Amino acid sequence: MVTESLTVRDNRTGVEYDIPITDGTIRAADLGKIKAADPANNEEGPGLAVYDPGFVNTASCRSSVTYIDGDKGILEYRGYPIEQLAENSNFLEVSYLLVHGALPTKEEYDAWVHEITYHTFVHENIKEFMQGFRYDAHPMGMLMASVGAMSTFYPDAANISDPDNRRLQIIRLIAKMPTLGAWAFRHAQGKPYVYPDNDLSYTGNFLSMLFKMSESKYAPDERIEKALDTLFILHADHEQNASANAVRSVGSTQVDPYSSVAAGVGALFGPLHGGANEAVLRMLRRIGKVENIPAFIEGVKAGNERLMGFGHRVYKNYDPRAKLIKQQAYNVFEVTGTNPLLDIAQELEKIALEDEYFVKRKLYPNVDFYSGLIYEALEFPPEMFTVLFAIGRTPGWLSQWLELVQDKEQKIARPKQIYTGERGLNFVPRDVRWA
Ligand SMILES: CC(C)(COP(=O)(O)OP(=O)(O)OC[C@H]1O[C@@H](n2cnc3c(N)ncnc32)[C@H](O)[C@@H]1OP(=O)(O)O)[C@@H](O)C(=O)NCCC(=O)NCCS
Repeated sequence: MVTESLTVRDNRTGVEYDIPITDGTIRAADLGKIKAADPANNEEGPGLAVYDPGFVNTASCRSSVTYIDGDKGILEYRGYPIEQLAENSNFLEVSYLLVHGALPTKEEYDAWVHEITYHTFVHENIKEFMQGFRYDAHPMGMLMASVGAMSTFYPDAANISDPDNRRLQIIRLIAKMPTLGAWAFRHAQGKPYVYPDNDLSYTGNFLSMLFKMSESKYAPDERIEKALDTLFILHADHEQNASANAVRSVGSTQVDPYSSVAAGVGALFGPLHGGANEAVLRMLRRIGKVENIPAFIEGVKAGNERLMGFGHRVYKNYDPRAKLIKQQAYNVFEVTGTNPLLDIAQELEKIALEDEYFVKRKLYPNVDFYSGLIYEALEFPPEMFTVLFAIGRTPGWLSQWLELVQDKEQKIARPKQIYTGERGLNFVPRDVRWA
């Protein structure tokens, strides 16, 4: 029984409609029943539609994966606060949680870690395929192409209605992303690709594939391993962001998960999504020293530029991920030595958090404010920052995809448009037009 509803009066016809409200939303299809022609006389007309470029106020799905309260600065995966997961869990356990909806028992955890560890190798042809890229190929382009190419190596992945098959592809994708990401990194450096080391943890193995040289066994520094693992946890999902939406949109055609995740990688590649931490580094370098901050802040307030790494479409409070990343920055700098840009970042944050311009607009540090500093300290070139994000986001994309393919309400994603072009023109053949 509907207890909440919206009464709409169409002033074109004078007709009133009762539209049910469920979970704080109305169904766009219910608006479609509102027609300009008089429905009382059974006249047909185009139904009312919603115009919402960028989906700023449109829910595209029901989801139980990630909860965000942007005003309060809350982020939870499957109900667990991100702070507790970052402190007490690890990336593979969080991946299990996201994909399965509940924390694993000991047996489930051991089996999951084992399976992911033993799927880290990729087919040799993928290696050859990656070696075919130009020396200066962007690693995100390489990652996107190689994830898409995996659908040709695993044609069985097309069978998305089989739960066991879906699980196998999910394991393969989470397992192989670090291998592809690390190889894209080595490619740009002209270094030989390093094969996975199954004795190491997920993140330890990734570090080995990135940085191992002639030593027979790579031993990752535990603090760096923990910092990177935490960064993966913090990036693992963020509900219906642009790349999750891309994965869902492509996945709604019932294509295999590799093709869907390749679309997610493509969306993440864009500077409005995955690229802001690089912009933060450029900004900090430009400021150069703490004494230059007041002048820089004045420029931001005058509208000449933005304080990169500040502000968020959803968070109108401190981004909970930014706090945790800041903590990890200190741990990393213990190993690598401090990054002089950290002093500038901290002072910038202090001044901005006290300044009325930022306070009034609820502008706080976001996830990108400190992450670039960590990545730089670990000697990643800026092009790799988004690859790290993509590896972390993979379980989130797959959880969103899994939810989509099991959701009976979902249909092929196919929005409406408002047509603004010409109609009914008569084609004039070339010989007449050009005579
Ligand atoms: C993230 C972002 C795109 C969100 O944008 P949004 O939700 O559309 O917010 P708006 O652009 O409408 O900004 C609202 C107000 O705050 C100001 N503002 C927002 N972010 C700002 C920033 N980083 N520096 C200075 N002013 C900022 C806007 O100028 C605007 O002020 P006005 O009301 O006087 O015009 C935006 O905050 C931004 O560009 N941040 C910097 C880039 C960044 O760090 N991106 C990573 C996001 S994870």
